[in-house]
Amino acid sequence: MQEKTYPWWSPVMGAREKELLSQVIDSGFPNDGPFTEKFENELAAFLGAKYAVAVTSCTAGLYLSLMALGIGSGDEVLVPDITFIATANAVSMTGAKAVLVDVNKADFCIDFAAMRKALSSKTRAIIPVHVSGRAPDMERLLAFAQEHNLKVIEDAAEALGSKTLGKYLGTLGLSGAFSFSPAKTITTGQGGLIVTNSEEIHGRLRELKDQGRPKRGTGGNDTHVSLGFNFKFTDLQAAMGLAQLETLSERLKKLQKHYECYKAALADNGRVRLPEFDTAAGACPQWIDAYVEEDRDGLYEYLKQRNADCRKFWFPLHTQNPYLSDDADYKNSIDVSKKSLWLPSSLNLEEADIYKVAEFVNDWAKLPSARTAAGAR
Ligand SMILES: Cc1ncc(COP(=O)(O)O)c(C=O)c1O
Repeated sequence: MQEKTYPWWSPVMGAREKELLSQVIDSGFPNDGPFTEKFENELAAFLGAKYAVAVTSCTAGLYLSLMALGIGSGDEVLVPDITFIATANAVSMTGAKAVLVDVNKADFCIDFAAMRKALSSKTRAIIPVHVSGRAPDMERLLAFAQEHNLKVIEDAAEALGSKTLGKYLGTLGLSGAFSFSPAKTITTGQGGLIVTNSEEIHGRLRELKDQGRPKRGTGGNDTHVSLGFNFKFTDLQAAMGLAQLETLSERLKKLQKHYECYKAALADNGRVRLPEFDTAAGACPQWIDAYVEEDRDGLYEYLKQRNADCRKFWFPLHTQNPYLSDDADYKNSIDVSKKSLWLPSSLNLEEADIYKVAEFVNDWAKLPSARTAAGAR
């Protein structure tokens, strides 16, 4: 009998994706076309945003958002030190400087005091990252941005369908970018989406993503009104996305349930803390993250031996070659990076599976010394 496994994540796709993909293939038009438009419209309506623009990735979405706001060489953009490197790389692509900012240990998001310290006369924007689908205090962040005349572009790569202040993440700033890479709530293989309520930004995004053409052209006698590039989505991706969207609400409910189960089961576990998601207010985790005060790697190995796959947190960006900088300003991000991991969160897991993994975590926590007994089975 095959051993039971508890994947950290696994994309869920099947017959409906195949059906819609066949329709695109039969249409003879695999480019950015009617399926893409439908996908954009459905997501804009779901998120309550005026405009949605599908692009090749969230990285491209952040880059194009910055470009649309005229951010480039000589400018600085505040980026949390704990995020996937794409956030900073999108800034670097524009020629601007990504200024890394420490995070706070409660929600792993950008820290306000550190942000204030990082401000300079060149600071033009902030990219808050909604780590695991959890927003920083957005009311405070938007007020801070207004006070210092900064644009807010949300990195909502991990936050599709998660809410704060009664709104979907990604719709609170001037623009927000989502990712549909395979480890996300819905996937199109690769792909991203930008949402905005600004007609002007929307217009710029359309031109930037398609060689300066406000509307998709023929490639022949088109008018290119501005400088643009090729970051177009395809209807093949949109077919996948439309099929996945049909089950989005179900997926979100399941992820919230995963969190509630872990939270209940780990309530008395003194070694592992789950950062809060206010699910009653609509917050939804993309993956369930956990902070392990002592011996995170021991827990990781212990779970691995029981076929429960976790993913360790990113290294702080300031320790990565393109962004090397002194440790002194990043005490919290160093701590969070060393002590955090994502627990098995796959949509394929059922409630009983989550309770089983939580039982492993509790068993590990009861070992006399988690550090020395980590390998024991
Ligand atoms: C926080 C964050 N930002 C940006 C990205 C980049 O998204 P994409 O791979 O779609 O470019 C990711 C992807 O995992 C992410 O987790």
